[in-house]
Amino acid sequence: MPMTVTKAIFPVAGLGTRFLPATKAQPKEMLPVVDKPLIQYAVEEAYAAGVREMIFVTGRHKRAIEDHFDMTFELELALEQAGKRELLEVVRSVKPDDMECIYVRQAQALGLGHAVLCAQRLVGDEPFAVLLADDLMVGEPPVLQQMVQQFDEWQASILAVQEVPAEHTRRYGIVAGRSVNERLVDVAQIVEKPAPEAAPSRLGVAGRYILTPGVMREIAAQPRGVGGEIQLTDGIASLLRREKVFAYRYQGKRYDCGSKEGFLQANVELALQHPELGAGFRAFLSSLDA
Ligand code: UTP
Repeated sequence: MPMTVTKAIFPVAGLGTRFLPATKAQPKEMLPVVDKPLIQYAVEEAYAAGVREMIFVTGRHKRAIEDHFDMTFELELALEQAGKRELLEVVRSVKPDDMECIYVRQAQALGLGHAVLCAQRLVGDEPFAVLLADDLMVGEPPVLQQMVQQFDEWQASILAVQEVPAEHTRRYGIVAGRSVNERLVDVAQIVEKPAPEAAPSRLGVAGRYILTPGVMREIAAQPRGVGGEIQLTDGIASLLRREKVFAYRYQGKRYDCGSKEGFLQANVELALQHPELGAGFRAFLSSLDA
């Protein structure tokens, strides 16, 4: 039986220090881009890729995310009574009926690898996706769906990658390997946040992964890595010794919404593309240039 991806892990327990003070009392994944919180973009991307079981690894301030995906009885009643059908649909569509949300707690922010490991029992023996919601991905088809198509074909772990400028290698896990085709690399090496002179390539991992369940055992065996954290990259580096791992150059655009600059860019570009707001917003921006 071929493996299929029906589960996704959303690690949302980071401290979000690059976005203080906004993230002092709320997770950065609840920051809205135009009119939707970052986490909802990521959940919609996973749903479009066929995922139905959403596993959130939460930390402090977890309430906002749980509440967002919960039923809001009073709000729905008020909208219904006011005859605001369209808004009611907007609210209800946040969590389709066939989507399940599960919450696990990461008591201490010990790193992304550790956060993923917190969901080990929930993923069990199945492959799973990991989506970092602060990387907002815009693609058609959605980026995770592109990756699921690759997974279905290769039945092996798939990492989303993009070319990054040499001076930015310290921000990413960097992979190197043999090209299988113009989009796919058979990964031979992965290093977390190398200096430009130590980076084996300029292919940086973006916040989307599809991983086989074997990676959990590898993460569990990792000592603390870069920054004193248990790194997902180190777990994947161990997995490479046992299984094939592919890096996939996704089609689409990524906004690093964990940084203030990337977040502002996402807001401007998505506002310009917005069916209702776009034209007016474009006129407003041009009026600033005048
Ligand atoms: P980041 O490296 O962006 O860290 O984590 P951070 O703490 O959230 O943000 P900064 O750098 O301090 O501004 C990448 C992803 O991993 C999650 C984060 O929520 C984010 O989605 N994460 C990180 C955890 O869930 N737990 C951790 O212990 C660390």
